[in-house]
Amino acid sequence: MTHGRRPPGRTLHPMCGIVGYVGGQSALDVVLAGLRRLEYRGYDSAGVAVLADGGLAAAKKAGKLANLEKELAGRPLPSGATGIGHTRWATHGGPTDANAHPHLDNPGRVAVVHNGIIENFAALRAELAERGHALESETDTEVVAHLLSEVFSSCGDLAESMRQVCRRLEGAFTLVAVHADEPDVVVGARRNSPLVVGVGDGENFLASDVAAFIAHTREAIELGQDQVVELRRDRVTVTGFDGTPADDAVRAYHVDWDASAAEKGGYDYFMLKEIAEQPRAVADTLLGRIDAAGSLTLDEVRIPASVLREVDKVVIVACGTAYHAGMIAKYAIEHWTRIPCETELASEFRYRDPILDQRTLVIAISQSGETMDTLMALRHAREQGANVLAICNTNGSTIPRESDAVLYTHAGPEVAVASTKAFLTQLVACYLVALYLGQVRGTKWGDEVGSVVRELSEIAGEVEEVLETMEPVRELARSLADKNTVLFLGRHVGYPVALEGALKLKELAYMHAEGFAAGELKHGPIALIEDDLPVVVVVPSPRGRSVLHDKIVSNIQEIRARGARTIVIAERGDEAVRPYADHLIEVPPTPVLLQPLVATVPLQVFACELATARGNEVDQPRNLAKSVTVE
Ligand code: F6R
Repeated sequence: MTHGRRPPGRTLHPMCGIVGYVGGQSALDVVLAGLRRLEYRGYDSAGVAVLADGGLAAAKKAGKLANLEKELAGRPLPSGATGIGHTRWATHGGPTDANAHPHLDNPGRVAVVHNGIIENFAALRAELAERGHALESETDTEVVAHLLSEVFSSCGDLAESMRQVCRRLEGAFTLVAVHADEPDVVVGARRNSPLVVGVGDGENFLASDVAAFIAHTREAIELGQDQVVELRRDRVTVTGFDGTPADDAVRAYHVDWDASAAEKGGYDYFMLKEIAEQPRAVADTLLGRIDAAGSLTLDEVRIPASVLREVDKVVIVACGTAYHAGMIAKYAIEHWTRIPCETELASEFRYRDPILDQRTLVIAISQSGETMDTLMALRHAREQGANVLAICNTNGSTIPRESDAVLYTHAGPEVAVASTKAFLTQLVACYLVALYLGQVRGTKWGDEVGSVVRELSEIAGEVEEVLETMEPVRELARSLADKNTVLFLGRHVGYPVALEGALKLKELAYMHAEGFAAGELKHGPIALIEDDLPVVVVVPSPRGRSVLHDKIVSNIQEIRARGARTIVIAERGDEAVRPYADHLIEVPPTPVLLQPLVATVPLQVFACELATARGNEVDQPRNLAKSVTVE
């Protein structure tokens, strides 16, 4: 049990996993199992609190959840049926035991877990100190524990206390709290950060993500902005921060995947499982979106055709891997629709005062649907009058909720921090949107759409084929484990693929990896080439746009002449490239625009295997978290 002094300094908790439970089972067991599912959100420290025997007991520990579990094995908490838990991703303030959540008030009757930033915490803290509260640290969360304690002592109702406290908070936050004087209640609050209710039979759950309670129930309620929820065994009551009852039925939904989808299913890592699931994920994302005549039926894209016909610019905003999907989408959208399209890092977008109006279609791509940079970009776009279409993998998350329309990718839950299947399905969704725009605007006629769609519907099988031939890639990766640098080159859609290959290697293998447009090589990066430097080159099909192909074959010769070890990803049967490839990775023939769907897969496998060979943690790389809910 810990509630010791914390080191001075501001401690913020912007992304993190939160679980709350009230019901008939051991709250500690349910909460710990939930935290295990949420560890992808952060794994710097973890903590739990349970209400038992008229009091509150808490434990917290720096490091992964396993450290907390070890601590609990040595010093078990009393058994209770109401509890909360937290797994943290630290920004400011080290990942210490003391900085771990939950945070308690002085008498130790209230426990709070928190995800987000309380921006006015310094003023609140000063105010509390004036009223005689002894705050032990400068953490923002501790302020909430003290405020709740104070308000509760006058109103005796935790939900009401939470509403009153939330009205005073500035910033983005999810809060979940328990009070020893209300042993059958868990209260949650939400502004900007995610919080979902799991509705069970005689038991209810709260979590940052449905994965935490999917083993118990698939009925969920997505909390809205500025709402407080009071959870009892048999009742869920949602109100606004001002106490107005909320129409929770509107946000209730059934989760269409089950617990086994969130398990490793026999693989050593979630990432390996998720790489292997890509053929199915791609097929599921196409499912039901193409009618018998080969036309697209994207009913979800609720932006009227009349509006889409008037669109004169498309802007794609996203981060990281999703941004690479957006870069590829630009080629498809411009090619199939002839509408100018720009793809921009969401974190840069709104700060340069972009030119947007009612004729701009903004596409926000996000696996989690919670990425703060992307959310802020879409809010800015909507303020300027643009229509926003989200491409998202997480049902009911903030980005789709705040968009005009959403096209869901059906990758299923992606647990490994490094994105794989979400990326392929984002590409599929982008192609569908591009073709749909072409269909609506008449730049791409039914039969043409039909022929691309036919090729798309064969892609799942081709991804499967790539997966079946990955052993040499794994061997190659292992042989490069002691290298420091790997470069990636591509042209056209192969350029974003090169960037994605480099990103995967950085985040998983912690190696210096950089992607370049192959044509840029001679403008500087070629100086990096030295003897035996591994350079991965993504080569487009020799068919069709052979100019592109020939140019990159020349680039390969240039780097090889300077000593590079060339690792070439090329279409099966591309004999022209073979003589210049020290290692040749063949992928099935596809149309140029669709090649990223097959060319990215070996790069995912390559990075995963190199990470393993270097002894790194594949699913939870250092310093990262799955949902980046801070700017
Ligand atoms: C890399 C990776 C990240 C995410 C990025 C955006 O493997 O996973 O770069 O792609 O943080 O996340 P979402 O798609 O959730 O908005």
